[in-house]
Amino acid sequence: MGRVEGKSCVVTGAGSGIGRASAIRLAEEGGLVVVADIDGDHARETVDQITRTGGVATAVTVDVADPRQVDAMIETAVREYGSINVLVNNAGVNIPGVVHELTDEVIARTLDVNVKGQIYGCRSAIPHMLHQGGGSIINVASVNGLVSEPYLALYSASKGASVMWTKGVALDYAKQGIRCNVICPGWVDTPINYAHAEMLGGLDKVYASIDSFQPIGRPGEPREIAHTVLFLASDETVFMTGSVVVVDGGMTSQ
Ligand SMILES: NC(=O)c1ccc[n+]([C@@H]2O[C@H](COP(=O)([O-])OP(=O)(O)OC[C@H]3O[C@@H](n4cnc5c(N)ncnc54)[C@H](O)[C@@H]3O)[C@@H](O)[C@H]2O)c1
Repeated sequence: MGRVEGKSCVVTGAGSGIGRASAIRLAEEGGLVVVADIDGDHARETVDQITRTGGVATAVTVDVADPRQVDAMIETAVREYGSINVLVNNAGVNIPGVVHELTDEVIARTLDVNVKGQIYGCRSAIPHMLHQGGGSIINVASVNGLVSEPYLALYSASKGASVMWTKGVALDYAKQGIRCNVICPGWVDTPINYAHAEMLGGLDKVYASIDSFQPIGRPGEPREIAHTVLFLASDETVFMTGSVVVVDGGMTSQ
């Protein structure tokens, strides 16, 4: 038996990076996975990787900033797998910039995807979880939900909102079997960081000096975050809700 055997799991932003690794890890442990991403081709690539090794997955193209598309994504899980047990609100954008130069579009997009996307996901999944007597929601925030960095004020604001959204949801449903926890990863090697790295002098320069801000001395790997997603999705964490789980190679310890 896998650690999430037979559980219906929805992972957003699962066409790349942490979301893809999480979808794969959940499927390895018996999860039935809806692989959701705004990039449908990338979502289908993740599904191919899962099904090639005998896992169960289906792709959905979704913009998590659109509430109707999010409803349809959750409906797909219920239709395909009979329920939704696990929701991983992972999709996100990071558009770095100097505060007084932020455009209306960048502000709106960051908050629509990183904050409203998680709100829509919870709103849509929770009625099904209440009906079936429980579920596990995992929001992916960032260390920037706890501490900020140069050029990341807006991103940090969105991730701080994710941390507090998680705590609020956890409180409201604690007695109804719905758990809600948030993961705060440090610097993980994925494309979401490339624009920020450019502003800091390029990815090579950032990685050459990563010791200065991430004591473990290297970027994290998506699968290292996926292990924590799996842990929170599984029944091993039935007493955990409202927890802020930092997985950051020591970054916020200094
Ligand atoms: N990589 C890091 O260092 C790091 C650190 C802390 C937190 N995070 C968070 O982890 C999450 C995943 O990021 P990642 O590092 O895997 O990046 P990534 O760029 O590899 O993956 C992000 C995925 O989200 C998808 N996406 C973007 N907007 C979307 C939308 N509106 N609807 C649906 N899908 C959308 C993208 O197409 C992409 O496949 C994000 O929330 C990010 O903020 C990443």
